[in-house]
Amino acid sequence: ATMKRALLQIALFGLLLALVTTLPNKDDWDIYSFYINSTVTSRYATTIITSRVANRMDESKEIEFQVQIPKNAFISKFRMFIDGQVFDGVVKAKEEAQQQYTAAVSRGQSAGLVSSVGRTLEKFKTSVNVAAHKKVTFELTYEELLKRMLGKYELQIHAHPMQPVKDFKVDVYIHENAGINFIEVKGGLSTKALANAITKRHSKNKAWVHFSPTEDQQKICDSCGEQGMNGDLVIVYDVNRYTLLGDIKRSDGYFVHHFAPLNLPRIPKNVVFVIDRSGSMHGRKMEQTRIALIHIFNDLAEEDYLGLITFDSDISYWKRELVQASKENLESAKNFARGITDRGATDINEAVLQGARLLSVHPREGSASILILLTDGDPTTGVTNLEIIQSNVKKAIAGKFPLYCLGFGFDVNFEFLEKMSLKNSGVARRIYEDSDADLQLKDFYEEVATPLLTDVTMVYIGGTNLTKTNFSQYYNGSEIVVAGQITDNNGTRSVTFSDTSTTVESTGIMSESHMQRVWAYLTVKQLLEKELMLSESKEEEMKKALALSLKYNFVTPLTSMVVTKPQGENTEVLHKPKEGVAHDPQDSGLLIRHAVGASSRTKIHCYMYNTFLYCFTNAKYFCKSHTF
Ligand SMILES: *[C@@H]1O[C@H](CO)[C@@H](O)[C@H](O)[C@H]1NC(C)=O
Ligand SMILES: *[C@@H]1O[C@H](CO)[C@@H](O)[C@H](O)[C@H]1NC(C)=O
Ligand SMILES: *[C@@H]1O[C@H](CO)[C@@H](O)[C@H](O)[C@H]1NC(C)=O
Ligand SMILES: *[C@@H]1O[C@H](CO)[C@@H](O)[C@H](O)[C@H]1NC(C)=O
Ligand SMILES: *[C@@H]1O[C@H](CO)[C@@H](O)[C@H](O)[C@H]1NC(C)=O
Repeated sequence: ATMKRALLQIALFGLLLALVTTLPNKDDWDIYSFYINSTVTSRYATTIITSRVANRMDESKEIEFQVQIPKNAFISKFRMFIDGQVFDGVVKAKEEAQQQYTAAVSRGQSAGLVSSVGRTLEKFKTSVNVAAHKKVTFELTYEELLKRMLGKYELQIHAHPMQPVKDFKVDVYIHENAGINFIEVKGGLSTKALANAITKRHSKNKAWVHFSPTEDQQKICDSCGEQGMNGDLVIVYDVNRYTLLGDIKRSDGYFVHHFAPLNLPRIPKNVVFVIDRSGSMHGRKMEQTRIALIHIFNDLAEEDYLGLITFDSDISYWKRELVQASKENLESAKNFARGITDRGATDINEAVLQGARLLSVHPREGSASILILLTDGDPTTGVTNLEIIQSNVKKAIAGKFPLYCLGFGFDVNFEFLEKMSLKNSGVARRIYEDSDADLQLKDFYEEVATPLLTDVTMVYIGGTNLTKTNFSQYYNGSEIVVAGQITDNNGTRSVTFSDTSTTVESTGIMSESHMQRVWAYLTVKQLLEKELMLSESKEEEMKKALALSLKYNFVTPLTSMVVTKPQGENTEVLHKPKEGVAHDPQDSGLLIRHAVGASSRTKIHCYMYNTFLYCFTNAKYFCKSHTF
């Protein structure tokens, strides 16, 4: 018994020690300044977090730097300034970094990791030993292309410095040549208690948001306390859209085209929901699914067609074929949804094949079809081999419409869902098990609720190394973004315009590195998706993505950042976490083709000419049938 108590005491002592070292004590070290500086130009955001810390103790101290950044962003720079010395993080191929890491471990040193947290953020953490009464400055830079969703861009800034900070400020500068339509500040930090700490200025094409709460204010906001602030500032905005063909920026050698046409009529849609009702959906998940479905059905238009399938080891149909979303039919569908109960195993293969069949048997001219699978688990009955399911599903869909997979909770094989969606021109989304899961489902549905175009091909003559140019569907509130390099910059190519053409001139010359970085960012993202999607012969994509990541200093799933510290200290290797690599609809392309026949493919032709880039549309589809 004595022995046990001794052990317990040691354990408790260890625990206390751990608590003492992990809770930063303001008396030990003081974050005397913390700046977050974000510059957004043409939807490309570069954010720099600068934290200055002083060791107040008479002895050296391990000082931590811990921040959360958007999952969608790539870290591109990290440095520490200690006592007149600079320590720069270096981006290396993951394997090479790993070797360094292994060497460090074998020398008895530990290495840092970036771990995934939350729905939209991931954590960056490092620490360094600072001598008595010395200071350290941490500086982290990350970059992201903001995505337009539901008619707006959102820049999320997470502030959690771990203690109240005397000199704390956030500055966001936005510059959009097209003009800023509206700008709002939201998020948990945008509360009454902090209202006077926020300044917002906004001119035609520039906006500035400044946030500088006092130390006292940092303790009183929601989810803030003696430990200081912990919350988000979310800058929400949209740009003006005067030209139908969007907004093109170019600078020596590179261009970026943002395309989000206005005033298009909606296309009637055929939507089929394939809903998992296996035993694991029991309880709140099933209830939230029912609520979300009923809400979604209320939103369907009379010209839409609906299919609803539920599955466990058996398949149940609301109707054996697609039916029009008339009032009576929707009432019947809602009743069916109310009666969905959980039971049994998970036959994903058969359920998705049946969903695809519903959409394939009666193609409707001029409509857009969408297949949505919701599941919370792995296939457990019927065909369970993931490769075979993927191949069956691909065959059944045959490129005719996109498949969206919603993975409910963390028991799903999310990578399997991602692969299956990407192979069928859709995307996968995780639905987090939480009180707002029904809202997450509804929000996802809203993003794809209003198809405006199907089968869009962007053609850039004189452009090369283009990012994705084929998009199966374009939805209201989203945006198509294409970037590339310009080969024919000479103006020698002749350009013909038809009467119905719309032209758009490139506006504003930005710094070259900026356009180039947008291009690199998009190219790497899309190569990584391709890599996930292809089962073989993907070495070339990997090589390209790695080369670009290294060239542009991006910490991606293929690279890591090696942080070398003052002598005698651990080298750290920082990875981008794998789980939670989110794919939003805009990212992987809004995805794929409906059975309306090749003649209705929308082609947007863009020509580089002199210093301008001209685009016009396939007159037949765009200009005539849609008063474009
Ligand atoms: C923030 O960035 C802007 C634009 O890049 C720069 O002018 C400004 O000095 C920066 N502010 C701080 C505090 O670093
Ligand atoms: C697209 O969304 C905008 C608002 O975001 C709305 O005004 C417009 O009517 C929508 N278009 C269609 C076809 O639903
Ligand atoms: C761009 O395309 C050209 C061929 O058109 C190719 O030689 C070059 O390697 C490409 N550059 C990059 C960075 O992919
Ligand atoms: C894009 O669509 C066009 C027209 O259907 C097709 O010819 C081309 O191969 C597609 N490109 C890609 C990369 O899928
Ligand atoms: C560009 O223009 C120069 C002179 O005007 C000409 O010599 C060259 O061949 C042109 N290049 C291309 C690719 O057309």
